[in-house]
Amino acid sequence: METERHEIGMIGLGVMGRNMLLNMADHGFPVAGYDKDPGKVEALQKESAEHDIHSAANIKDFIGLIRRPRAIMMLVPAGPPVDSVIADLLPHLENGDLIIDAGNSYFKDTNLRARNLTGKGIQFLGVGVSGGEEGARHGPSIMPGGPEEAYQRVRPLLEAVAAKVNGDACVAYLGPGSAGHFVKMVHNGIEYAVMQLLAETYDLMKRGLGLSDDELREVYDTWNQGELNGYLVEITARIFGKVDESSGKRLIDEILDVAKQKGTGMWTSQSAMELQVPIPTIDLAVAMRDLSVFEKQRETAGEIFNRPIAPFAGDRQTFLDKIGHALHAAMIVVYAQGMAVLAAASDKYEYRLDLETVARIWRGGCIIRAALLDDVRMAYRNQPGLPNLLLAPELSIKVIAHQEDLRRVVCAAIELGLPAPCFMTALAYLDGYRSAWLPANLIQAQRDYFGAHSYERIDVKGTFHTDWTKG
Ligand code: 6PG
Repeated sequence: METERHEIGMIGLGVMGRNMLLNMADHGFPVAGYDKDPGKVEALQKESAEHDIHSAANIKDFIGLIRRPRAIMMLVPAGPPVDSVIADLLPHLENGDLIIDAGNSYFKDTNLRARNLTGKGIQFLGVGVSGGEEGARHGPSIMPGGPEEAYQRVRPLLEAVAAKVNGDACVAYLGPGSAGHFVKMVHNGIEYAVMQLLAETYDLMKRGLGLSDDELREVYDTWNQGELNGYLVEITARIFGKVDESSGKRLIDEILDVAKQKGTGMWTSQSAMELQVPIPTIDLAVAMRDLSVFEKQRETAGEIFNRPIAPFAGDRQTFLDKIGHALHAAMIVVYAQGMAVLAAASDKYEYRLDLETVARIWRGGCIIRAALLDDVRMAYRNQPGLPNLLLAPELSIKVIAHQEDLRRVVCAAIELGLPAPCFMTALAYLDGYRSAWLPANLIQAQRDYFGAHSYERIDVKGTFHTDWTKG
């Protein structure tokens, strides 16, 4: 009898759901699976010989497989599919049952769903999961948010399936409401910016220095052995080595230069704007994906503004080292921007985030895992209320060491005529942030001039207005 025996149910047997389910089963948790697509249910059934898993052909039978009070995780695309699954589930659920949305849901949707479900006596956790297919199968980074008692119910399961770094599980309770999905959203914003920075290094080395795919692979591989060590650098090295089976050429050179997106980077930018926290490097990473889509216009503009790329005149190895250093400094700036959004959101939305914990659970399993996160973690451990990572000695020392190379790389990109907006905005953010004086006094004066918006003075407290046209 399989009835009401399974510790957890999984809805959505696509790449992420299926692999997460198998991961749970590997750790000895009996799991029941369900998907609207009968093909996926059938495919899962074939696994049941090797694992303690069962699938059901309809939602009622599926619910019947799960032990009470039920815990049901869903891994379906963000947006309407999440609401549709919840609507299908609700008639079959009872007081005290728990729904876990482990997809990339927008945090405001999570707040609404949490409110709605709590009113119906159903517990709800919004959980960010990072690591793609491989992570889901063998250990993702897991970012849970919602009522803490609901988290405690599934804590042993989540700790078992999460990635481990020196035995430490990459999961921790992050905070109430949509804290988990907010943290995952910012994770993705950082992911977008680091990916774009890597794409800009590729452009500088390919079109600027004329490096071959083999040479590129070697550079990224070398970087991955040092302070730039991280998953995205590692896979970039591998990408340049991959041969296309159909053409026999390097696959990277056969791929269209148009980048898609599902919206999490855009949400990070929108949310940061709402919180009035500047994250220009993440904004530009989103913008460059948007720009990549206008391929026909780019071709036409390329003819109108034709400007041949002059061969790079300096020493190649010296410039490659500078690019690596610039990347390291820019990555720190990107993390600083992302963590600043988290700090502001924690105050505004009362998440009470512990940023050391966030850095800790990002060290393994997730897409942005990188050696740099050890420094980020130490920075928050040493100063829990740190207003910006750039103020932490653990990181500022590295930015100071590399900032001149960041400047040289930005200058070289400008001279070569190659687009490097993420490097440029990382430098601009750094220069803005380290400016004890900014020309914002002029902005105040202009606002007061045309709109009588008033201004503040250095020498006297209060607000002032001047009739600028008089005298
Ligand atoms: C992760 C990834 C994952 C997904 C991205 C892709 O952490 O595992 O971020 O969530 O691959 O959402 O996002 P885009 O389609 O927007 O690039």
